[in-house]
Amino acid sequence: MVGRRKFLRDSFSVAGALLLTKKSPFPAQAESAAADSRIEVLLGEPLGTISANIYGHFAEHLGGVIYDGIWVGENSKIPNTNGIRKELVEEMRKIKAPVVRYPGGCFADSYDWRDGLGPANKRPRRTNFWADAESSSAPASHKYEPNQFGTNEFARFCRLIGCQPYLAANIRSLGAEQFYQWIEYCNSPPGSTTLADERTAAGFAEPFGVRFWGVGNESWGCGGNFTAQEYAVEFRRYTEWVPRFGQELSFIASGPNVDDWDWTRGFLEELVRKGKRRLRTVYGMALHHYAWNLSRGRTNDWDQGKGDALKFDSVDWYELLREGQRMEGLIDGHWQVMSEIDREHEVKLIVDEWGPWYKPGSEMVPNDLLQQTPTLRDAVFSGMTLDIFNRHPEKVAMANCAQLINNLNCLYLSHENNFCVTPVGHVFGMYAAHQGGQGLRTIFSAPGIPYDRDGKPATFWGLAGAASLHDKELVLTVVNPHVSKASEPEIAIRGASVKSGSVTTLTHSDIHAHNTFEQRDAVKPETSNLTGTGKVIRHAFPPASVTKLDLMLE
Ligand code: AHR
Repeated sequence: MVGRRKFLRDSFSVAGALLLTKKSPFPAQAESAAADSRIEVLLGEPLGTISANIYGHFAEHLGGVIYDGIWVGENSKIPNTNGIRKELVEEMRKIKAPVVRYPGGCFADSYDWRDGLGPANKRPRRTNFWADAESSSAPASHKYEPNQFGTNEFARFCRLIGCQPYLAANIRSLGAEQFYQWIEYCNSPPGSTTLADERTAAGFAEPFGVRFWGVGNESWGCGGNFTAQEYAVEFRRYTEWVPRFGQELSFIASGPNVDDWDWTRGFLEELVRKGKRRLRTVYGMALHHYAWNLSRGRTNDWDQGKGDALKFDSVDWYELLREGQRMEGLIDGHWQVMSEIDREHEVKLIVDEWGPWYKPGSEMVPNDLLQQTPTLRDAVFSGMTLDIFNRHPEKVAMANCAQLINNLNCLYLSHENNFCVTPVGHVFGMYAAHQGGQGLRTIFSAPGIPYDRDGKPATFWGLAGAASLHDKELVLTVVNPHVSKASEPEIAIRGASVKSGSVTTLTHSDIHAHNTFEQRDAVKPETSNLTGTGKVIRHAFPPASVTKLDLMLE
């Protein structure tokens, strides 16, 4: 037990100890800006199409994500569709959830997909990857995987939502044959193979059509502790022959932990040792970054460095955003390293785990593993992160917030028949408007926010965001991170004029505000009509807010 915990902790500590060497250009812009705030949207400078998949999700067999979150069981009194929590599906449809990654995470590399098939009462119980980290009061289903929710149930969940499945395969403890047979189970046409017959017998004649396949997870750590070179060899082997059944397959390689540039370089260098064409076998490299170190520079210890989800001061607020802002430098930095080997950029970045990670203590369901209660701070963090992805549409092909429900930066919290949308969930609802739009270069100039960081002067940027165009509709999202001051920039639309519009704002007078099962709507977005029109408009962005402007142009 201690060994496994230490193993995980060691992986993370290494990540935390590495320093970000490539600086994001964004804060520098803000620091050097004039006192007046200004946002300029450049219609003539498209950045690329914003993939809907950057608004993706992640659901792992971990704590209350599956059992008590997604899966309530077919005989439950909780409203459900074939055992799947109905309210969750309804909410995910509202936010146009495009893709869900499953079944892990670290769990993926200990999971045998065959365990989740067959009559529910005959499925085996197995020790969950996370069992040793669970508390003694945790439900049995969190420690000993009952396999009531498997591939079929996950595929149904995705169908109900109308999203794409993204399956992460076990390469640490299952062979390549199991990998391609899972693909065969999911994608082979009815009647074609024994596995297709098995799927049909389970009530799923139509193939699941799974396009996205993760070849392992965090293969530098819990997914096998490989070196980048060893992993590249495995990646080549696992993807060398896989049946397609007419389905496009996109393989996602386990990518770097935070700023492990050597992993990115080492993997690609080894991959192309067998020829540059190998690059075409990789759809994307999975980058993971959690904002966990709120120690204000005091420690890199994974346990000591974490902050509290609910109890924080304004310095902690900026500290979390500062950690999150690293994402922009990580995207730029890994992209640059990738270009050393992959000059044409065949391989994209898939940020399939991101979000804040706090110490235990804020769980709505006491002791639920890695559950935390997202506040307005996490909503601002999430808006900021999604805008970073929006600003790099040519690089980021997919992103998956960790995790969907009852875990880390969750969009939803649930327990038995209780359910609520967190402030993070509301941000995803607002930002869905960016999906599939044409990203536009947008310049934000606002005075930096000066604050005292434990006796040392510090500055955080004043305004940030992203814009996308959808025919004549411009979507502009803006984060004002200032804990107490509104910002009222001029917003200039270069190349068009605003005819009408609406404003949706998520904020609260208390930066700690969050939703609970009793107060489900303590933090929720409000929409009103835009007041100004023309080439230049003004809008006051409240302190600690995430705002979306929907602007009709002429
Ligand atoms: O999201 C929780 C865990 O964090 C995942 O299982 C793992 O991939 C990462 O280290």
